[in-house]
Amino acid sequence: MTGPSRQRMWSAVVPAALLVLTLILTGCQAGQPRPPSSGRPVTPPSIDPAVPTVHFTAQGDVGLGTGARQVLDTIASLRPQLNLGLGDYSYRAGIEQEFCDMVTDKLGTDFPYQLVTGNHESDGHDGDIANFVKCLPNRLPGLQGEYGTQWYVDYPEQDPLVRFIMVSPGITFHGGNTLNYSQNSRRWNWTARALDGAKSRNIPWTVVGMHTPCLSVGRYDCQAGQDFTNMLIRKKADLVLTGHEHLYQRSHQLGGGTGCPILVPDAFSGDCITDSDASMVEGEGTVFATVGTGGVGLYDVRDDDSEAGYFASWSGGNRDPALGTLDVTATADRLSARFVPAEGYTFTDSFDIRRKKPLQR
Ligand SMILES: [Fe+2]
Repeated sequence: MTGPSRQRMWSAVVPAALLVLTLILTGCQAGQPRPPSSGRPVTPPSIDPAVPTVHFTAQGDVGLGTGARQVLDTIASLRPQLNLGLGDYSYRAGIEQEFCDMVTDKLGTDFPYQLVTGNHESDGHDGDIANFVKCLPNRLPGLQGEYGTQWYVDYPEQDPLVRFIMVSPGITFHGGNTLNYSQNSRRWNWTARALDGAKSRNIPWTVVGMHTPCLSVGRYDCQAGQDFTNMLIRKKADLVLTGHEHLYQRSHQLGGGTGCPILVPDAFSGDCITDSDASMVEGEGTVFATVGTGGVGLYDVRDDDSEAGYFASWSGGNRDPALGTLDVTATADRLSARFVPAEGYTFTDSFDIRRKKPLQR
């Protein structure tokens, strides 16, 4: 073989050999689906089947993008009994059905994906809550009030462990109307009675959900209202869940009492913190968690925010960014919650609230 023909042979053989080697090393075979990208497997919480337990997830600010689908996959892997949607669903008018289809494709047609409105769909501007309510209707028996706007339900229906109370302060509805949650208004009293009613029925836990937070290390001020927020604390709501801020933040347990007659936004008083570690005692105060991490782009958090002292944990666009969901289990004696990041994110948080004395039920 002459010099030039040997060169031609090697110039054909070497690339072919490299290609074969590459295929062997990568395990890639043409025409086969790629395995899922490696991510942390999401494991459902361990639940003792002998102990009555409520298991739910909660998050808001979803959209229809890749992030939304990743978070819905995370929820599906956790296998909760129900999900609380904390508002802001499609971010665009006319695609409500697409949003609902995305949810039911991932979670099943009968899964209770329970809705309260966000500011994007309350006035019909970016979708209409009336349409979401039609395509993701209430799936829980015994619900009281107006589904999508202001409702509560005891879960499970027999021997309930949790009363879920969903309300809509600080939100603009059609015609520019806001619903009146001011002190002693009809909606204020409805909410207060729902909290009192859970206590008088000996339901172990109260979870309040609404779109707007009050305290925040994000961009908004107290949109839920100072008086309304203080009422939730005074009535000893155990856990208050919100969205609106596209971030995760979780407060210490906050309570009134000597030294903290009232919680004042935009300021910090250490006297309002009743428990500052992640293991809290029921009845000592209220934990606030914003879970605006359901899929849309994240907002930044401010470590130097005047309210940062109230928070135990936070994550946003500029700090440990993570889409994901809150995952909560509640037995009669203990409510445990954790932030579960969607695939590709690592931020987590966890806390629990225990009951010192068993409830007489
Ligand atoms: Fe939002």
